[in-house]
Amino acid sequence: MTKAIYPGSFDPVTFGHLDIIERASKVVDYLIVGVLNNSSKNPLFSVEERVAMLQEVTSHLPNVEVQSFGGLLVDFAKQSDASVIVRGLRAITDFEYELQMSQTNRKIAPNIDTVFFTTNLKYAYLSSSIVKEVAMYNGKIDEFVPPVIVSHIREKIDQCGSNK
Ligand code: PNS
Repeated sequence: MTKAIYPGSFDPVTFGHLDIIERASKVVDYLIVGVLNNSSKNPLFSVEERVAMLQEVTSHLPNVEVQSFGGLLVDFAKQSDASVIVRGLRAITDFEYELQMSQTNRKIAPNIDTVFFTTNLKYAYLSSSIVKEVAMYNGKIDEFVPPVIVSHIREKIDQCGSNK
């Protein structure tokens, strides 16, 4: 049985991420979406909120589970008994960082391989940062994230605004 981890910050999950999750879940037997608990990145959503949002939008996929993790990705993969790391490649600009990460991971954990999915061209421009930026300035984000995530982003931005 092939178990894979699809790691990321997912702050928040976009249609681009969802496309990779759906495609990867057809290729591997079991897919764990690993949400990095990255306090240093100052995320808009807490790790619990990011996990809950991913659970909402992947509930139709029976072989997909969402978990948070801290520390090294390869340690999380080992603990989860996963031998594959899944990453999406949007454009050549992603390549250098992804290559460095996958080679480092393979150096420290030779039995774990990284598999790349090229992003659907429809979402090649998309990133969580762009979604947040457009939302902050009240732009339309319904082509970037599922409807339920649009609501969560709007609520969060309203909350942040009222806390100022
Ligand atoms: O969605 P992102 O923010 O591009 O995902 C980056 C992620 C979570 C895959 C990466 O930061 C990571 O794996 N972090 C865990 C720490 C780690 O293992 N670092 C060494 C990898 S070179």
